[in-house]
Amino acid sequence: MNVVVLGSGGREHALVQALSRDPAVTRLVCAPGNAGTVAQAESRELDPTDAAAVVDLAQDVAADLVVIGPESPLVAGVADALRDKGFAVFGPSADAARIEGSKSYAKDVMRAARVPTAAAMVFDDDNDCAAYLAGATPPYVVKADGLAAGKGVHVGLDLAQAVDFARDALQALGGRVVVEDYLDGPEVSLFALSDGATVVPLLPAQDFKRAYDGDEGPNTGGMGAYAPLAWLPPGMVDDITARILQPVVDEMAARGTPFSGLLYAGLAITSSGPSVIEFNCRFGDPETQAVLALLETPLSGLLMACATGRLSAVGPLTWQDAAAVTVVVAADSYPNAPVTGDAVVIGGLPDGVTIQHAGTTTVDGRVVSSGGRVLAVTAVAPDLAAARERAYEGLAAVRLRGAHSRTDIALRAVRGEVTVDG
Ligand code: AMP
Ligand code: GLY
Repeated sequence: MNVVVLGSGGREHALVQALSRDPAVTRLVCAPGNAGTVAQAESRELDPTDAAAVVDLAQDVAADLVVIGPESPLVAGVADALRDKGFAVFGPSADAARIEGSKSYAKDVMRAARVPTAAAMVFDDDNDCAAYLAGATPPYVVKADGLAAGKGVHVGLDLAQAVDFARDALQALGGRVVVEDYLDGPEVSLFALSDGATVVPLLPAQDFKRAYDGDEGPNTGGMGAYAPLAWLPPGMVDDITARILQPVVDEMAARGTPFSGLLYAGLAITSSGPSVIEFNCRFGDPETQAVLALLETPLSGLLMACATGRLSAVGPLTWQDAAAVTVVVAADSYPNAPVTGDAVVIGGLPDGVTIQHAGTTTVDGRVVSSGGRVLAVTAVAPDLAAARERAYEGLAAVRLRGAHSRTDIALRAVRGEVTVDG
């Protein structure tokens, strides 16, 4: 099978690594890729949101399957352009990608599907929004209605800051802002494969969105992750699938915009059960690095089954009976304008540790940083404590000037401090 993976982040490198382990994959191309994907896949320079260029590439390499990693090409309709030319694609249509691209659309689907989520109000006028916030209860949650790479959300106790964020979002991005109730409880990222009708959940993971230890500092794309979640009550994944993921997939099919690809539910496990924080229309980064490290079922067959409407024929997934921890190495100043162009040096890694490159490129044969999240270190071990230890041993082998990582990825889970109320 000839497979093209679109994108250049850590998530795409994890997809490339999993596909390169799959004997059914005979040719693997990552476009544009990074300094890490070149070890397992051919690279092709292109803009993944340029539909014509992507179709040309798929034709050129006689792709049997195109896997679209990031949200921007999905929202831009690249999956539609490929399907129009007869290619099998893993990733939703532009219409279905609105589940991530438009917070108000997602809320509307959830309302129709009776899926639990935070109550929300949508505003297009900053004075109306400010008046509403003044009467709301903190913490305030304000979201820009559009793609903002995980950074279009403000959560905080200070009213003036919430009002300023809403005003800036309305001015900068135009459109609308959503103000919603604060959901209390540990967060879960649950990924599900869907072919538009059948839903197959992957292992649940937890992401660390804030830049610094103790969940301090600004929101980022994600600074680390681990899977599975031993603290999640038994049956919770099945419950989320039955009460949240399947109803959303059914509702989208009923609207004539079936969701085919990866449906990512970001949830809070509140005292009254799981509630949706957000949906994404693609694999999460860096949770994918941890989740795919544990997957034993060959990935290409799963993605192809989604692309061709045959997911119901796929048997149960098999997973390593182990845990995975992923720690992101971020460039100096990330999530603000990151410092780039520094040498990235990786020494010997302990057993069970792999690296997923993200913001890296090759200059004169040397690997240099080229983005905010530079790479991720992922460790697999029999239990979470061992995986965490090994991930940090692996991290010590990475050298990048000014780099920062969180030191507390999976720490509270190892200590048994993550609990669900109710
Ligand atoms: P999002 O971009 O929607 O994933 O939001 C980023 C982060 O903000 C989430 O991972 C949560 O930590 C936090 N967040 C978003 N919405 C809420 C909410 N309604 N209640 C509590 N935290 C939230
Ligand atoms: N890790 C969060 C995301 O991919 O959106």
